[in-house]
Amino acid sequence: MMAGDSDRVWVDSMPDAYDRWLVPAVFHPFAVDLAGRVPAHAPDRVLELAAGTGVLTNEILAARPTAEVTATDLNPAMVDVGRRRAPGARWREANALDLAFDAAEFDVVACQFGVMFFPDKAAALAEARRVLAPQGVILMSTWGDLADHDFQAALVAGLERAFPDDPPSFMSSVPHGYADPNVIAADLRAGGLDCVEIETVTLEGRAPSAADLAMGYCNGTPVRAEIEARGDLATTTAVVASVMEERLGSGQVTGRMAALVIEARATAERTR
Ligand SMILES: C[S@@+](CC[C@H](N)C(=O)[O-])C[C@H]1O[C@@H](n2cnc3c(N)ncnc32)[C@H](O)[C@@H]1O
Repeated sequence: MMAGDSDRVWVDSMPDAYDRWLVPAVFHPFAVDLAGRVPAHAPDRVLELAAGTGVLTNEILAARPTAEVTATDLNPAMVDVGRRRAPGARWREANALDLAFDAAEFDVVACQFGVMFFPDKAAALAEARRVLAPQGVILMSTWGDLADHDFQAALVAGLERAFPDDPPSFMSSVPHGYADPNVIAADLRAGGLDCVEIETVTLEGRAPSAADLAMGYCNGTPVRAEIEARGDLATTTAVVASVMEERLGSGQVTGRMAALVIEARATAERTR
């Protein structure tokens, strides 16, 4: 299924809600893992795509302090928060499909949980390839199967309880809609890249409560637009919170979260 425009929009308070309720529990553990892969490539110039509120940005700045990091995102509201949260980077608004950078400007292009939002993935990967130096590397991540993400599977169960006749589909069609390694490898090839590795990384998420996670997903992601098209946001968030608590437990909650971590390089014939 193709993503609609509302599936990639973060406006108003959404970036703050995302950053407060979801980043520490869900995105920070993977940012530490992905940033830990950067120093091995000894980059001087790193470009981050779909950087959101800067959780990976800060980890890259810490892991490779000598690198100049340029962080970009499509949504101005995300860039505003990111610029405040990760001031050590140069921030720019940018659509990953159309980057205003010169060819071969960067040694590493990094992207955490952003590629699944790009409407034409092969075109976005080709654009990343264009701005990558000949020996450069792309490091990116995407979620694995929904069933292997305890928090997001619980969220979907909550949304199905709230809207049994017309359950929102964003979570399965976008964040978890790009989980097939064969499709990813084919898109990399089409973008002029060789897939070096696609690794399944499963990490533990930890949140103060299921209600916190429900607040984050319902208010700080495009799920919000799906809820508002169907009913009341606060009422739905409460239903989702109770279903998530049934599945995850009360008090502090933990969950398995599986992602695919991808390393790719420019194909040899294009680097000659
Ligand atoms: C799930 S968030 C991930 C943000 C951040 N990388 C993190 O790990 O917290 C997805 C991000 O993709 C961005 N995005 C969506 N479509 C994009 C596009 N075409 N170009 C650049 N960024 C895009 C959104 O604005 C959002 O910040």
